[in-house]
Amino acid sequence: MSGIIFFKTLMLEEIRKFYLDEVGCTLWLEQADCIIFKHGNMLFGFCTRDSADKEGMITFFYDNKEDVDHFYARFKDIAYSEPSYNDKYKIYQFFAHDPEGRAIEFQYFDHAVSTHRDGRQLLVSRRSVRKFKETVIPEDILFRLFETCRFAPTSMNRQSYYFKIINDRAVLEKLSDIRGSSSKPIANAPIAVAICSDPRLTKRLEQDGCIAAYHFLLAAWHYGLGTCWIAAMDRDDVKEWLNIPKDHYVATITPLGYPEKLHVATPERKERDYFIRE
Ligand SMILES: Cc1cc2nc3c(=O)[nH]c(=O)nc-3n(C[C@H](O)[C@H](O)[C@H](O)COP(=O)(O)O)c2cc1C
Repeated sequence: MSGIIFFKTLMLEEIRKFYLDEVGCTLWLEQADCIIFKHGNMLFGFCTRDSADKEGMITFFYDNKEDVDHFYARFKDIAYSEPSYNDKYKIYQFFAHDPEGRAIEFQYFDHAVSTHRDGRQLLVSRRSVRKFKETVIPEDILFRLFETCRFAPTSMNRQSYYFKIINDRAVLEKLSDIRGSSSKPIANAPIAVAICSDPRLTKRLEQDGCIAAYHFLLAAWHYGLGTCWIAAMDRDDVKEWLNIPKDHYVATITPLGYPEKLHVATPERKERDYFIRE
């Protein structure tokens, strides 16, 4: 489901040029005397009428401060002031106006928000996060996260995977010590999650477990939570600490929390053709 906010305008052509060419919105739909733009998950439209709506504010927000600065450089002439931090809302912002005098705002949230990302953005922006804020993950976010994780594919739909939430600090410390720097991220997070599968339900233990784990990583990112695949946790001592039967498979144990930094640089990726073989 979605929605659109419409504004009346007296200058549809100028509005079209401004929001498409200057702000970088995409054209979602054009019909008769109306244009509808898309910016992230925001749909907003303008229709030619005999007066113009100029109340309210259209806010465009970005994943980083640099984007706000970039737009300020572009819109210096129509900006009301330079970008600045607003402590009340913990945002970085500046205001300007569109060609018809409508107030617009460019901002960056200087704290974690669950930003809208389309499917591609979700896939390409997920990063391995190794440092976390101490912020407690709200119960309703955990509820929604695990609710989303019910939909991972499994061999013959046997749904053999399950999650163990680890929030005992002593256990987190023990787990984080077992593989030197590779497992350290576990103790940096408020909680960790072991993603396991049960051999009584499937013959495809590893596949079910690993797919469920990656599904979890992506679902967590959707809710603004960072994760990191920690390998080689399918060990007897780990199972003992977590009360997991010896014959079950532990795909990974990932730390889970709000990333310390919202933007972690993408490690180098090869070009597309490298991954396609004849
Ligand atoms: C099978 C597998 C094992 C990994 N093991 C570890 C690990 O033990 N510790 C760690 O910090 N990161 C681990 N990672 C994370 C990778 O280092 C990371 O995915 C890779 O550098 C690419 O970075 P990105 O996830 O931010 O795109 C592992 C990832 C995978 C898929």
